[in-house]
Amino acid sequence: MRYTNSEKIYEKAKKIIPGGVNSPVRAFRSVDKEYPIFVNRGKGSKIYDEDGNEYIDYICSWGPLILGHNNERVLNGVREAIELGSSFGLPTKMEVELAELICKCYPSMDMVRFTTSGTEATMAAVRVARAFTNRNKILKFEGCYHGHSDSLLVSSGSGLLTDGYQDSNGITEGVLKDTLVAKFGDVESVRKHLETKEVACLIMEPVPANMGLINSSKEFLDSMRRLCDETGTLLIFDEVISGLRVSLGGAQEYFGITPDITTLGKIIGGGYPVGAFGGRKEIMDMIAPVGRVYHAGTLSGNPVAVRAGFEMVSYLLENRDTLYKELENKVDYLTNGIEKLSKKYNVPVCINKLGSLFTIFFTNLKEIKALSDVIETNTEHYSVYFNTLLDNGVVTPPSKYEAHFVSTAHSEEDLKRTLEIMELAFEKIGKING
Ligand SMILES: Cc1ncc(COP(=O)(O)O)c(C=O)c1O
Repeated sequence: MRYTNSEKIYEKAKKIIPGGVNSPVRAFRSVDKEYPIFVNRGKGSKIYDEDGNEYIDYICSWGPLILGHNNERVLNGVREAIELGSSFGLPTKMEVELAELICKCYPSMDMVRFTTSGTEATMAAVRVARAFTNRNKILKFEGCYHGHSDSLLVSSGSGLLTDGYQDSNGITEGVLKDTLVAKFGDVESVRKHLETKEVACLIMEPVPANMGLINSSKEFLDSMRRLCDETGTLLIFDEVISGLRVSLGGAQEYFGITPDITTLGKIIGGGYPVGAFGGRKEIMDMIAPVGRVYHAGTLSGNPVAVRAGFEMVSYLLENRDTLYKELENKVDYLTNGIEKLSKKYNVPVCINKLGSLFTIFFTNLKEIKALSDVIETNTEHYSVYFNTLLDNGVVTPPSKYEAHFVSTAHSEEDLKRTLEIMELAFEKIGKING
């Protein structure tokens, strides 16, 4: 009876919304559950569903809620902004203030343009790269997700992987042919494409997090930078997930690599709908109304969303010296506990982690380095893990191809409780293994 209301809402939802959800990653099908929980509210580290169940949340809206749900400072900013109006279709001062903050955190960006989503940010970044280089082709890595624009859905990660597709129907042959694909971590698979000098940009998650979390390295990112420089290709770091998460200045700060263009998303809106792309002035000057690359949006830089983002980014900036270390400690606490459970119940796992992100892969493999490794990991074990946690008040991503997100709101007590519940899951999986 735990999910009666969610089930009822789903019965209605599936008749009027495809699959009953507005984004496939919200469906629970890949973890053997017919319907998702429908969320009613969130506060701090917790969410509450329509049946009144409480969950410690490790989805955190797929990343942005690094300060937890309804953080007071963000909420107060939003309240003030809402009082002033919802949207004007004219510029506001707060857009400029958030832009300044972002450029301060990301020295690779002289200028930044706001969008409403990460998808729009990556789509526009690719368009600018094509215009800047006068080349049509683009290169991406298999299993990396950059939103749902046509050209970036090729060999994509996230929900497509979860549903077992490598790309989407409805994309023209021409678009498919212009998107080239390489293997993450494999320098030669990149070199062979870039050496043709026909590729406008290499777009990459510097720390892939949409096929589960994949460890990256300075050495690999350095080679990407070098290959792009040698071939006149623009390097786009899609930091929609890693931005402000693995460190304030994202993966580019963490690894010390300067991309040509950066894309950011949800986190810079504190959970409200925002995205952004930015880079050197000479590149950004190509964008209308200065240049001839068109990018627009009625709700781009929406006043409520940018105010939420301003409060969030200001808080992160003020507390950067302690906050990121604390988040890392929380992840260490959880992952050390998981390692112990893995030994105790003889359930082999491989854990990838960075900053406040981690993924547990149920596998005998010692390392998970690329999509081919992730595909081999045990889907049934992940499903038992997910469902045991859910039934006991902990919500984790409903797919083995995603990362867990930890926030500043997760308390010691939350983490301890999470490990106790994880123990129930490991015990069950251990029994399946015999
Ligand atoms: C790395 C990356 N890029 C782009 C996107 C697309 O962002 P949005 O869902 O806001 O369109 C996502 C979404 O999760 C993402 O993880």
